[in-house]
Amino acid sequence: MIILGIETSCDETGAALVENGTTILSNVVASSRDLHIKTGGIIPEMAAREQIKCMIPVIEEALKTGCGWVVGYEKPIPITHSRLKTQNSSPPIDAIAVTVGPGLIGSLLVGVETAKTLAYAWNKPIIPVNHLLAHVYANWLSSRRSDSPTSPFSPNAVIPQFPLVALIVSGGHTELILMRNHGSYEWLGGTRDDAAGEAFDKIARLLELGYPGGPAVAASAAKFKVTSSKFKVKLPRPMIDSHDYDFSFSGLKTAVLREVSHLSNLPNLANLLAYETQEAITDVLVKKAVRAAQQENVNQILLAGGVSANQRLREKILKKCETEKITSFCSAINLFLPEPKLATDNAAAIASCAFFNQNFLPWPKISADPSLSL
Ligand code: KG4
Ligand code: ZN
Repeated sequence: MIILGIETSCDETGAALVENGTTILSNVVASSRDLHIKTGGIIPEMAAREQIKCMIPVIEEALKTGCGWVVGYEKPIPITHSRLKTQNSSPPIDAIAVTVGPGLIGSLLVGVETAKTLAYAWNKPIIPVNHLLAHVYANWLSSRRSDSPTSPFSPNAVIPQFPLVALIVSGGHTELILMRNHGSYEWLGGTRDDAAGEAFDKIARLLELGYPGGPAVAASAAKFKVTSSKFKVKLPRPMIDSHDYDFSFSGLKTAVLREVSHLSNLPNLANLLAYETQEAITDVLVKKAVRAAQQENVNQILLAGGVSANQRLREKILKKCETEKITSFCSAINLFLPEPKLATDNAAAIASCAFFNQNFLPWPKISADPSLSL
């Protein structure tokens, strides 16, 4: 089964073709990141306007590169002149999957209304997809055609097995879920205030490191030499020992602000604080995810969402999973990590999620829901 995925929940515009939920045939992402670097953050109106411009060209590119259904895309073309409108036959896809939420309303509407229009024109069913759940499915994807169940991106080289604890860490969400199967999961906990990605973004802005904050903090942290530094700063690890599955990252930003005003003359202050911010956030994420697996007696942990691209987080959790044990299993914990470029928003994960959670609906039943929860 080939599914066309469409993703427009935030500032990315994505379209992808995925076969049987695992094989990427094409995966096209256009981002308004350059515009938002100038504004230092996302302006929802601007993001949606850019998405209107590139939605159709992005879909055309995905169809063209994906399955030989050439639509003659060369450069972004205005919607009114799109060949998608004049094509007589429908492309060889079985369904259209689209993110219906959570996300920015203007952005979601671009993808949802495009998907509905194409579903009507091509007479294809739609599968509505929850963006947060879709992040999890980046772990099922690989870009090669193969009958083998191995994934080149997971350290233990097998596709995820159930039951598993999934830590979804994105710009707007930090959620821990226990998945027993596709379509069967239990929410364990989440952030009470700022998400992990949001903390990275806000602290990056405070330290004037740029946008998006996560990669900017990681790059700045990499310049800090722990061993040769005379100065040490210890930021709090919020809720690291609390006996629940919740998180809280808003206090970190205040703690960083305090250090900035105390140590304003220190050379390399931004790098030092970026390093400590990354250590604080990743310490909490790793400890809570591993503890959730131990308490739920589950031998698999999966990371998902933009923050899961963070190299330090990946190193730390891999180390912990190799050394920690789950009482009833006598082996190390299996860890699943998405390929870094599939960790951030993309439409291949949307199509994969739709394949494993097939909820076909006719187009009039589809609508955007900006505050959709898991
Ligand atoms: O999942 P995502 O692409 O979009 C949302 O659904 O929000 O996540 C975006 C978030 C941003 O906060 C960004 O700063 C963070 O993921 N991020 C990272 C890294 N790459 C993206 N955070 C830490 N390290 C990274 N390498
Ligand atoms: Zn996302």
